[in-house]
Amino acid sequence: MLDIFSLIKNKTEITSSDYSIEDIDLSSVPNHIAIIMDGNGRWAKKRGLPRIAGHYEGMKVVRKIVKSANEIGVKVLTLYAFSTENWKRPKEEVDYLMRLPEEFLGTFLPELVTENVQVRVMGNQEQLPSHTLKALNKAIYDTQYNDGLILNFALNYGSRYEMIEAIKQIVKDSKNGNLEVEDINEELFSSYLMTSDIGEPDLLIRTSGEIRLSNFMLWQLAYAEFWFTDVYWPDFNKNEFLKSIVEYQCRTRRFGGV
Ligand code: IPE
Ligand code: IPE
Ligand code: MG
Repeated sequence: MLDIFSLIKNKTEITSSDYSIEDIDLSSVPNHIAIIMDGNGRWAKKRGLPRIAGHYEGMKVVRKIVKSANEIGVKVLTLYAFSTENWKRPKEEVDYLMRLPEEFLGTFLPELVTENVQVRVMGNQEQLPSHTLKALNKAIYDTQYNDGLILNFALNYGSRYEMIEAIKQIVKDSKNGNLEVEDINEELFSSYLMTSDIGEPDLLIRTSGEIRLSNFMLWQLAYAEFWFTDVYWPDFNKNEFLKSIVEYQCRTRRFGGV
């Protein structure tokens, strides 16, 4: 007997089709995509694995999504890799997360170089271990002349921290006589943020079913389109990514207009 649940299930199966690059309007791909890569720990827990196993799997997904973003012509991909609040986690987990940039770049940097990807980092670098910084700085240096996709890692990033730092600098510049209070406007404030030369995301993706920003790009996301999925980051893939773009392209962005 066919009950309502099997009907719903069948419907889901029919509608959850695979997406390919042909489904994308390549003339209106979001310029800047930001992703809150969440759910690594739960992905691992579900499999009876330690949380760090989820982070390791998640790292491999980063590589795939960078490839897809590059393929469809995204200009900037900002990935939230570690928040200013993530230091609250157990030391072993934090230590592992601080090793991941080396692991990722140690494996994939040569490919990023040949694929014309430019690596960048935003966040409070002062607190990062020297081995993490060393790996990141090498990647930034080796890819500095690449002019393809900008791969921007938000590492030890927090939007409130970023804004407070901006305000401190604005006050300093004002005291030094380099800035008049009347000069302060949205454009000027934006120019003091860590995103000053990469602009604001058009699309924000968050995986793992959480519907919150967790201190991510609060200023820059003012008019971004938000797209949430229940999929844990290690299970995220090209299909899901393309689906988010297709759905983005179905939205009407009004920016307060009509
Ligand atoms: C995201 O996955 C990665 C980082 C925050 C570094 P989580 O580690 O937050 O995974 P969950 O949310 O606990 O499942
Ligand atoms: C946000 O995820 C930070 C990153 C994905 C790097 P969290 O897992 O830290 O966020 P909360 O604690 O669930 O809000
Ligand atoms: Mg999380």
